[in-house]
Amino acid sequence: MEMFLIRGGRTLSGTVRVGGSKNAALPILAASLAIPGAVVVHGVPQLRDVATMLELLNSMGVITEQLNGAVQVYASDEITTLAPYELVRQMRASVCVLGPLVARFGLAKVSLPGGCNIGHRPIDLHLKGLAALGADIQLTSGYVIARCRRLKGADIDLMGPSGPTVTGTCNVMSAATLAEGCTIIRNAAREPEVVDLARFLNSAGANIQGAGTETLEIHGVDSLHSVAHTVIPDRIEAGTLAVAAAITGGDITIQNAPVASITSFVELLSRMGLSVEALNDSLRIRTRSELRPVDFSAEPYPGIPTDLQAQLMALLALVPGESHVTDLVFPERFMHAAELVRLGADIRVHGNSAVIHGVEKLSGAPVMASDLRASAALVLAGLAAEGQTELRRIYHLDRGYQAFEKKLNSLGAVVERMQDPLSPTMSGPHFGTTARNAESPELDRVFDQR
Ligand code: EPU
Repeated sequence: MEMFLIRGGRTLSGTVRVGGSKNAALPILAASLAIPGAVVVHGVPQLRDVATMLELLNSMGVITEQLNGAVQVYASDEITTLAPYELVRQMRASVCVLGPLVARFGLAKVSLPGGCNIGHRPIDLHLKGLAALGADIQLTSGYVIARCRRLKGADIDLMGPSGPTVTGTCNVMSAATLAEGCTIIRNAAREPEVVDLARFLNSAGANIQGAGTETLEIHGVDSLHSVAHTVIPDRIEAGTLAVAAAITGGDITIQNAPVASITSFVELLSRMGLSVEALNDSLRIRTRSELRPVDFSAEPYPGIPTDLQAQLMALLALVPGESHVTDLVFPERFMHAAELVRLGADIRVHGNSAVIHGVEKLSGAPVMASDLRASAALVLAGLAAEGQTELRRIYHLDRGYQAFEKKLNSLGAVVERMQDPLSPTMSGPHFGTTARNAESPELDRVFDQR
């Protein structure tokens, strides 16, 4: 298993470029299953989660090919429509294959994803939406089995207890493109990744109106056709890099930044006293004075994304005064807080909120990543900490950030990827195999007993 050795205390400066969006690419690759022709997706980031999605597609008999940052997908009429537990448990976004499969093939068997480190993540809204379209849904032996002759348009409300569902909207919207008649999705997720999927499907012949608003109107078509598409830049990577500049007192310019889709995040940075200049698709972040504490809630789009909550908490750990952070999307997404405390942060979690008292300095220590964004937060904290931080379980980070340490090092950071001398891979073949799993639940269980 690999780990990061981070030598903190460097001020970051320079220019860095954001890659394609993971959370746009994954549902788009899944939706390719609804298309009988060739699909070419440009700008797909090279990430572990993308590799898992391609592995899932390949396991069904879909032909995929990667060339120069583009992925070509061809799902013939002959593929199998089974998404097995071994792959789905590695990545929850695998569930996005359910809607496209049942809509085109009339049958899908997809494993339920199971537990998750960022809190309770049911898929009841996905299933409710597909059932409203006429799919017969059964839950058997840990699998969802969905059947239909042809889906029929319906009026569906996707509001959940914590707001609309992002991948649920993707699943139901993809399915509705092939349903007979008109589907209205109310309380649809408005995230830019949903809009990108709608653009992709519309280019393939679908008729989806209202993407980016809370009501989608989808007029079903008989079939979709070949398409080429470029995924949007990753707003979470852009935000993470912005925090890297802020936490090190640096000055960096982020190119290919989806500025329009991170306005509430940018406003928050400005409120903290950072200088933020947006010009076309570039964002310059500079620290000019002492930062101010802030209170914020992570919310569905266009609010501050939950996927930037952990990184912002790492920053606030070093901002003098008291800040309050609430996560309204994933109320239990605070596993990073305890690890930040190991680095010297003063953070107390109460329910779905955390109170942060800024400290003067963090000091390097060995820490463990619990999930993707928690890993990013710990890298950021390590960049600012005095001395050395050892970050373990970076397989979480590799799920969502392409060559993250290389990008940071190009800005002056010192982050070294190395084999973990404490890793069980060194001592037994059993761990050698499980370590390749994206979420490595077995490993998590072993380490949770540390
Ligand atoms: N929810 C339900 N029922 C459902 C689905 C969701 O109650 O059927 C609840 C969830 O428990 C949660 C809230 O609704 O409280 C929102 O969950 P959502 O379904 O929107 O999350 P998701 O679609 O599973 C995507 C991203 C996440 C991101 C969330 C929120 C992808 C592949 N994943 O997950 O990204 O945090 O939306 O924006 O798009 C990440 O990249 O690190 C990540 C976790």
